[in-house]
Amino acid sequence: MAFDEKLAAVEEQWTEVDHFFSDSLIAPDSVLESALESSHTAGLPAIAVSPNQGKLLEILAQILDARSILEIGTLGGYSTIWLARGMRPGGRLITLEADATHAEVARGNIARAGLQTVVEVRLGNALETLPQISAEDRDPFDLIFIDADKKNIPAYFEWALKLSRPGSIIVVDNVVRKGAVIDSGCDDPDIQGIRRFIEMLGRNANAGGTVIQTVGIKGYDGFAIVRVLPADKPRRA
Ligand code: SAH
Ligand code: DHB
Ligand code: MG
Repeated sequence: MAFDEKLAAVEEQWTEVDHFFSDSLIAPDSVLESALESSHTAGLPAIAVSPNQGKLLEILAQILDARSILEIGTLGGYSTIWLARGMRPGGRLITLEADATHAEVARGNIARAGLQTVVEVRLGNALETLPQISAEDRDPFDLIFIDADKKNIPAYFEWALKLSRPGSIIVVDNVVRKGAVIDSGCDDPDIQGIRRFIEMLGRNANAGGTVIQTVGIKGYDGFAIVRVLPADKPRRA
């Protein structure tokens, strides 16, 4: 078998296994399904987190008993709905989106989920809306999900550190990119952004993290999970 055929067969297996787990573990949910459907109808790219990944985001919000979540990169609000559902009653989520069409589709999906009073979709380039949020003098966010353009991950991570507290969790999506992350000579700004973020994280004594590689319906990728550490208990170098 040619390499491409083998790869196609392996990817098909990843997809089937992903479906096996989501079919077995995630109850059919018309709100989430219609969020994906309306995103597709509106021409949004099919790059939302998978159902199994969405459930992980919900579980993280539940573990943290999160009262405040920040998401960078809304798309159609699919991950937003998972995250918001994991919050404690009375929790609030702010999600940042640069594209007006994406934001509008997301607002519709969030309203259909009954979360319009819980979630604020803020339209604008996150590099501009993050300083605004910082100036609003809010309580730190318990959970921050970074999932916008990959070249700006280092900047988003720096904002996330500023907008969080010891014990907050920062999740960064798409940090493996089919393994391209280890290509140090790569001139793709997205890959460079991911590499710079990993280097920053490795050097940061006030945050500790790991990366879990993933395969499944979205191919081969992975996410970083970072914990902001207490200032008096920094990580050993
Ligand atoms: N979190 C979503 C997927 C987000 S896709 C989910 O899993 O359901 C990435 C999104 O980030 C896109 O909608 C894109 O328009 C948005 N984006 C890209 N660059 C951005 C920027 N500079 N500021 C804010 N949003 C941005
Ligand atoms: C892309 C972006 C994502 O956030 C993702 O999860 C998958 C792909 C992309 O821009 O290609
Ligand atoms: Mg993503």
